[in-house]
Amino acid sequence: MGAAAARSAGTDIFGLALGQPAVVGFSPAWNRAVLSDLETFRSRGSFSSLVPYLNGGVIVTDAPSHAQTRRRLNPAFGPRGLAGVRRAVAQAVPPFPAEPTDALAWADHTVRDLLNTAYFSGEFDPALLQRFLAPLRRPFPAPMWLAPTVLAAVRRELRRLGHLRLKQPRDDLLTALVRLDGGLLEARISLAAAHDTTTHALAYALWHLAQDPQYHLPEQHPTVIREVLRLYPPGWMGSRRLAHDLDWQGHQLARGTLVLYSTYLTHRAPEWWDRPLDFWPERWQHKPAAWSYLPFGGGERTCLGLHLAQLILGETLAQLPPLRSLTGHPGPLPGLTLGPRGPLWVRRD
Ligand code: HEM
Repeated sequence: MGAAAARSAGTDIFGLALGQPAVVGFSPAWNRAVLSDLETFRSRGSFSSLVPYLNGGVIVTDAPSHAQTRRRLNPAFGPRGLAGVRRAVAQAVPPFPAEPTDALAWADHTVRDLLNTAYFSGEFDPALLQRFLAPLRRPFPAPMWLAPTVLAAVRRELRRLGHLRLKQPRDDLLTALVRLDGGLLEARISLAAAHDTTTHALAYALWHLAQDPQYHLPEQHPTVIREVLRLYPPGWMGSRRLAHDLDWQGHQLARGTLVLYSTYLTHRAPEWWDRPLDFWPERWQHKPAAWSYLPFGGGERTCLGLHLAQLILGETLAQLPPLRSLTGHPGPLPGLTLGPRGPLWVRRD
């Protein structure tokens, strides 16, 4: 059964054949339950625990200690904590090339460089950062492996820069993180969560601005980003593990079931969106229904990097010249995150 069959049966969840009990749901009520009830829907044992890149730190910390971990991390990643980072990122946005360019490839290295700026004032070995992050954007099973030699080199580089920041603070995220217990681990894990999500959002934004240049105005950019994240949510599927048996609208779900919420299905559901499959920024003149728009998740576990992602996207779009689209394959490709199949050829107009 898929979403359509679930709808016809008058329900909002359906089973998945994953070799273990698994259900996915797509209604706002389901999203709210999964994202708000942290005692029932646990992160340890979820899909993220199986991905070495994400298996650590805040991502797999459960209630009640999760709230405490977020309280320690949130200030660095909040708008005030990021003020200095914003200035540095704005200065580090690379110029858009003069020749025809694949927007996906450009977004990939631009986001990597801007994360290097935000976290490390640009001092992390760029070749190592690329080797570390590249597998995340490849199809499965590449994201499931983190080469031990790369992991060891990343840890060494984090320690090297961390020591420097303890002696001489800078206006970057590492300066805040190195002072926290487990801060270097949080830096590594959050970098992995940050890169391809932000890359995919930026690539789609570039593509749509090149296709619909009437939206390429500073006052329109926030709406373009919102609409890109609706139509192509990089975090297209979230997962949890059920801590105890649950009766969901008459469906008996056993303890241990892998439980998913599908941002992708919710964001494209005709029950909650007009013209759900159209790129239509004007829709944002109206507020969406509660729990029907969740590109950054929701509740206590809302994306730690929400402000950082918006900062990188906003500052990059602000410096972008007028673009025109050439040819490309924008169709969404689900992987660890959802992104365009690519390439997406665009040129300066
Ligand atoms: C457009 C870019 C991004 C998107 C669409 C995105 C999406 C998401 C989503 C949907 C979640 C919730 C997952 C869940 O609870 O099931 C999440 C959590 C998280 N994100 Fe992001 N993210 C983005 C950028 C970033 C950045 C830049 C960082 C860097 C700090 C980051 C770090 C994290 C972390 C650490 C979590 C786990 C938070 C927790 O469990 O308390 N993300 N993100």
